[in-house]
Amino acid sequence: MIELFDYDAELSRYNLRLRAAAGVRTADRVLDIGCGTGQTTRDAARSATSGSALGVDLSRPMVDRARQLSEGEGIRNVSFERADAQVHPFAPGDFTLGLSRFGTMFFTDPVAAFTNIGRALRPGARLVQVVWQAYDRQEWSIAIRQALAGGRMAPAGLSHGAFSLADPTVAAGVLTAAGFTAVEITEVREPIYYGPDAASARDALFDLRMVEDLVADLDAAETARALDRLLAMLDAHDTGEGVWFDSGAWLVTARRR
Ligand SMILES: C[S@@+](CC[C@H](N)C(=O)[O-])C[C@H]1O[C@@H](n2cnc3c(N)ncnc32)[C@H](O)[C@@H]1O
Repeated sequence: MIELFDYDAELSRYNLRLRAAAGVRTADRVLDIGCGTGQTTRDAARSATSGSALGVDLSRPMVDRARQLSEGEGIRNVSFERADAQVHPFAPGDFTLGLSRFGTMFFTDPVAAFTNIGRALRPGARLVQVVWQAYDRQEWSIAIRQALAGGRMAPAGLSHGAFSLADPTVAAGVLTAAGFTAVEITEVREPIYYGPDAASARDALFDLRMVEDLVADLDAAETARALDRLLAMLDAHDTGEGVWFDSGAWLVTARRR
């Protein structure tokens, strides 16, 4: 079985914030975008006792695990599809609530993607998401880059799309252009968890592909020293209850016009 990164553990504090903001009602039909292994989808389904929840994700292993976990928990009103939320032909107006826990930042054409998601929502339906703030507002991002860089100039940022909605003006502009209204963006700061100890946290960072690019131009000896520094830094963040970092996100809510 493939080892999948445990987002549920990493994001447990954000889960509580998202769930509170979403306020899933009993009859809701919920669409969870970039659902991963589906914790948020299952939570929504549990609240939507006379409704249902659909989780979509690009990753086949994530969707397979989501189904497996849901069957194990005996949840009947939840389903999952391997789908690209940017272009998937959702039934128009089928959903009363859209939801995403850090699953909407990776679109190649965000306006087209949110327009497609909007079509799936009933007019007036809410879309509730959490997205990362900029990398320089993330203790985890800064600490990882500095540890790997040592005395060298740290690379500008982690090179994945996780920060594409980090600028609230951009996020609001994308949603408005995609046909959403009443956009509200609120700061949420919560610690995130990378594992029970430094070695597990280091392995998690490799799983998340946060390390490779930052050591790509180092030779073998420099890489070994960089990884030693990384381990020491992670150890310094071991609270005794695992390795935790401060982080910042935006809670973004909007309404389909
Ligand atoms: C940071 S993970 C979050 C997963 C999940 N929401 C959670 O909180 O556990 C981002 C997820 O978005 C998915 N994703 C990225 N682009 C997507 C797309 N265009 N359509 C559907 N899922 C996508 C990825 O496969 C990944 O599982």
